[in-house]
Amino acid sequence: MIPPPDFVFDIWYFAGLSSDIRAGQLIRHEIAGEPIMLGRHRDGTMFALRDICPHRAAPLSAGRIKADTVECPYHGWRFATDDGRCVEIPALCSDQDVDTEKIRVRHFPVQENGQLIWVYISSDKRFSGTPPIAPPEFVLANRKPIVDDRLVLNCHVDHAVVGLMDPAHGPYVHRQWWWRSEKSIHEKAKAFEPRERGFAMARHSPSPNSFAYNLLGGKPITEITFQLPGVRTENIEVDDKALLSLTSATPINENRTQIRQIFFTDMMLLRLLSPILRMGAKRFLRQDANMVDLQQMGLRHDPGLMLIDDADTQAKWYYALKQEWARAQGEGRTFQNPVSARTLSWRS
Ligand code: FES
Ligand SMILES: [Fe+2]
Repeated sequence: MIPPPDFVFDIWYFAGLSSDIRAGQLIRHEIAGEPIMLGRHRDGTMFALRDICPHRAAPLSAGRIKADTVECPYHGWRFATDDGRCVEIPALCSDQDVDTEKIRVRHFPVQENGQLIWVYISSDKRFSGTPPIAPPEFVLANRKPIVDDRLVLNCHVDHAVVGLMDPAHGPYVHRQWWWRSEKSIHEKAKAFEPRERGFAMARHSPSPNSFAYNLLGGKPITEITFQLPGVRTENIEVDDKALLSLTSATPINENRTQIRQIFFTDMMLLRLLSPILRMGAKRFLRQDANMVDLQQMGLRHDPGLMLIDDADTQAKWYYALKQEWARAQGEGRTFQNPVSARTLSWRS
């Protein structure tokens, strides 16, 4: 087993929806063990700083925005929101010349793509400037989501991600009349291909054993992707309309993972059905969370774990992607996707 924390760095982490944070607001997040304050200026632009004042550790998110700075709630030190340098220490007298600009709080790049907020976390704590890669972008994510559910899983992000992409747990964990049952289990073969920082189950017609898909009518085509550090999408197209379901697993710390599941669509029918979708999605996520809690009972004893054959190949790819990402960053070379196109077969 890979020892925790073992997070992915030099990458964009999903940090929420635009509607999570109003103009003039500061909120506290913890991502990959880092306390991060997200803020939004009156003009709508966002910024992110480490949520620990370098003076005596008060959380800056409890302070306030003043012009283009954030003011610490404890002694009023002010930090520029664009790079984290200290611009004012109110307690200093005019003849006491401390070079305030030498004091800095860590700054993180933030980007809002449509409704999605991404924060870049570098392995180099002094990183500043523009990240070498861009965060994911989805056309449908410009719309208001029809489902937005969140939940904290009591596990390391690796177990959360592996659980999300696991094709074999469906008929057991998510057994319900409108989805899967043991009786509906059959052999399937799906073509996979490498994608940017991840892989995809190529476009295909979903299993006809699912009532929920059949509800969509037409001939749905679905594509499922996974991308580091923990973003899974399922895009279902019916004729020229689509439903994008995005599930992100963002590590809070080594024992807790924030899951957010968001649906965007331009299908009128699904907008109308959104209360039902919301209930279904909630149910799924709670079922996964309960299984995670059960699994923790075993993991506490640090047992050996198995990844078996095609059903667990996506999990193997996840670990391989993570390892190659860290190596490529460390060696300063281009990332080489370790996944190659192939068909995986399993029964589910
Ligand atoms: S702790 Fe922030 S100004 Fe003192
Ligand atoms: Fe699940």
